[in-house]
Amino acid sequence: MVLLPGVGMRILDQTALPGAERWLDLTTVAAACEAITTLRVRGAPLLGVTAAGAMAIAAQEMGASDDALRRACRQVAGTRPTAVELSSLAEAALALALAAPEAERPGLLWRFAEAVLLRRIEQDTLLAEHGATLFAAGSHVLTHCNTGALATGGRGTALAVIQRAWELDRVAHCFACETRPLLQGARLTMWELARAGVPSTLLADSAAASLIGSGRISAVITGADRITRNGDTANKVGTLGLAIIAARFGTPFYVAAPLSTFDPALPNGSGIPIELRSAAEVTEFRGIPTAPPGANAYNPAFDVTPAALIAGIVTEAGVLRPPFGRAIRDALTRA
Ligand code: MRU
Repeated sequence: MVLLPGVGMRILDQTALPGAERWLDLTTVAAACEAITTLRVRGAPLLGVTAAGAMAIAAQEMGASDDALRRACRQVAGTRPTAVELSSLAEAALALALAAPEAERPGLLWRFAEAVLLRRIEQDTLLAEHGATLFAAGSHVLTHCNTGALATGGRGTALAVIQRAWELDRVAHCFACETRPLLQGARLTMWELARAGVPSTLLADSAAASLIGSGRISAVITGADRITRNGDTANKVGTLGLAIIAARFGTPFYVAAPLSTFDPALPNGSGIPIELRSAAEVTEFRGIPTAPPGANAYNPAFDVTPAALIAGIVTEAGVLRPPFGRAIRDALTRA
C-alpha cells in the first residue's frame, strides 16, 4: 500500500497474485469500495488503512462538507462487516474531520491515513518480536489465511511472527492451509513465505486434522478480524476448526493481532457480524464451475473461535494470556 496524498492510494491487486503483480491506483471512493469488496485489498489491519485513505479521497473527490463525509463514511464502513478496523478507522477519520474547519479537512485526513499506516508498521515490528518468543527452537507451525505484509501494510501479524521466529531459528518450517474458497493461504501466504525464504508446505484445509494429529505441528497461529472483550476471536472461516483440532491434540493455538483489532463494545463473539459472501465463490473458481449449475452454497467468510481454545493473543503490547477479560482490559487501558 502506498498513500499518494492529494491523489489516492496505490495497491497491489491481491486477486491477481500469485500470477501477476498488478498495481492499481484508487482515486475515487467507489474504486476504493470496489477494491475492498472484491478483496483486491484485504486483511483486517490493511482494511483499516484503506478506510482511512478512502476518507481522505472522499474529502478531495466529494467535497469535505459534513454531509459528504458522513455519506462516504457509511459507504466505506458498509463494504465488509467483520473486520472492526474498517469501520472504526472510517469513523475515527470522520470524527477528526468534523472537528476541523472544512478547508483543512482534506490535508488533515491524508495526514491521518499516513499516521495510521506508520503506526501499523511500528506495531507489526513489535508484535513480531513478542510473538517469536512463543516458539522453541526448530518449531513447525501451522497457519491459516494470509496475515503477512499483504494484509497489514506493515510486516504482518501471525505471518510476521513466523518470519521473525524463523530468522531467530525458533521456527524451522511453516505449514499453510490453502484457505478455501478464495485461497488466500495458497495464493498469498505461500507467495510471501517463498519471497522471505521461509521453508513452507501447502496443505488442503481438510488435511489439517491429520497433520496436527500426527504430532508434527508445535503450534497453530492465525490472525484476527475482531476480538471481543472476553477474547472470542473472529477470523477467516476454518480457523474455528483448526482451534478445535489443536485443542483435541494438545497443540497450542495462538492468535496475533494489533490492539486495534479488539472491539471493546462487544462482550463476546455472539455479537460479531459475520460476512456472508456470494455462493459463486464456492460453486466456481475464477469463472470455472466446480459444482452443478444452480447448486446452493453456504459461504461465510469468517467464524468465531471461543476464547477458551486460545492459549495466547500476541499484540504489540506483549502476549496476552488467559483469563483474557482482564488481560485485554489492562492492555487497552494502558494503550
Ligand atoms: O477475507 P480476508 O482475506 O480479508 O480475511 C483475512 C483474514 O481472515 C485474516 O486472517 C485477518 O484479517 C488478519 S490479517 C492480518
